[in-house]
Amino acid sequence: MAKITFLPSGKCFEVNSGALLFDAALRAGLPVASSCSADFVCGKCNMQVLSGVENLSPQRVRERELLARDKKSESDRISCVTRVYGDCSVKTTYW
Ligand code: FES
Repeated sequence: MAKITFLPSGKCFEVNSGALLFDAALRAGLPVASSCSADFVCGKCNMQVLSGVENLSPQRVRERELLARDKKSESDRISCVTRVYGDCSVKTTYW
């Protein structure tokens, strides 16, 4: 199991190791921006990782390209392709 803390509310949610960050947020009752239905095209589902980056799946080249295209921080992750393997905390601009 892995614990995700969603900030700024501090809401915690436990997921099985390997769960997608995108799915976890939705299951925790939080909205996730998307215009591609998690098809890894729009880049709108990005989340800023505040801790536990070492517990997430490695970034792929395409993910880095999407983040750069949208001028996002290097600490952001595209949540629909990011898997969680241990505790972490994340936030978005709209929670
Ligand atoms: S929902 Fe579109 S890239 Fe993740």
